[in-house]
Amino acid sequence: MTNKMILNVALEEIHHRRNMGNAENNMHFEEINRKIPEIGEINSQLAKTGMEIMGIIKSGENVSGKIEDLKRKNTQAQSIVKKLLKENGYPEDYLQIKYTCDKCFDTGFINHDRCECLKKLIANITAREMNKNSQINLCSFDTFNIDYYQGNDMETTRKYREIMTKIYRYCKKYADNFSTESDNILMFGRTGLGKTHLSLAIANEVLQKGYNVLYDSSLNYLHQIEKEYFGRDQMGNDTLNVLMSADLLILDDFGTEFDKSFYVSTIYNIINTRLNRGLPTIISTNMNYEEMLEKYGERICSRLFTVYTGLEFVGTDIRLVKRKLGMQN
Ligand SMILES: Nc1ncnc2c1ncn2[C@@H]1O[C@H](COP(=O)(O)OP(=O)(O)OP(=O)(O)O)[C@@H](O)[C@H]1O
Ligand SMILES: [Mg+2]
Ligand SMILES: [Zn+2]
Repeated sequence: MTNKMILNVALEEIHHRRNMGNAENNMHFEEINRKIPEIGEINSQLAKTGMEIMGIIKSGENVSGKIEDLKRKNTQAQSIVKKLLKENGYPEDYLQIKYTCDKCFDTGFINHDRCECLKKLIANITAREMNKNSQINLCSFDTFNIDYYQGNDMETTRKYREIMTKIYRYCKKYADNFSTESDNILMFGRTGLGKTHLSLAIANEVLQKGYNVLYDSSLNYLHQIEKEYFGRDQMGNDTLNVLMSADLLILDDFGTEFDKSFYVSTIYNIINTRLNRGLPTIISTNMNYEEMLEKYGERICSRLFTVYTGLEFVGTDIRLVKRKLGMQN
């Protein structure tokens, strides 16, 4: 989707919100006019007053005194309506339109500027588009099984399961309590130990809370950013910016990209900007510290290994364990 298409989808959603608000308001009016005829009477009186004011304004006469008088009557009538609503067990504001956003009254704009609600919607639609092709729905906390973690002997197996149970609990708690002030996580350990599985489980839960989560391999993101940077993408997307401002960014398979200087500096830029903004990032990799140091250098590694919470995954490649058990991957 181009930026323009995303904007249109967002505006459609906002118009839908406004229509729903109006429709609900009409229903409340009908209900109250029926149940509390006194209010019905006042309402039709108020409608007439409104017409009168319009008429006076149109006629161009200088009748500001008359308008003031009508306005006063109007305010009085409003407070009688409120009292009657309350007496009949309704909330005072039952006849007021409920907007999803009180700042822009569901128009999406405040004085020609995009309202926060419109910006948030655009970010969410962008994230949904970007996550579309990932296997985000396949991995959850429910399908996580501790029995897959095995060592060479019983003692090692017991130790591994103890460590992985702690990691599982940490991730579950992280997802449950997520906020944009949450910690950064570095998941590391050999291949097939559930790093992607647990990071997707977190992504799922945090997405359901309504946060804007981006999940993909760092390689895919870097390719996309590179294409945009060198002008080979005409869609007008700004992936770098989107990654830097997502509520939660998950960079999977960190380290599978070539060590081109463009990639290294882009990664530094993303990690550093998000740290400065205090936004959480989860990185998973099967490289160890020395390999990372060699590939990304001190500037990136010192951040990842001191500021991020490190979770070291242990066990035997679960893809192999599953295959041995005769299960499909
Ligand atoms: N604890 C678990 N319970 C159930 N399935 C698991 C568990 N851990 C991993 N799996 C499954 O095993 C496969 C490999 O796991 P995953 O892709 O998460 O490993 P990884 O640590 O990300 O490996 P890599 O470093 O190669 O990316 C996936 O199909 C995943 O769903
Ligand atoms: Mg993985
Ligand atoms: Zn708004």
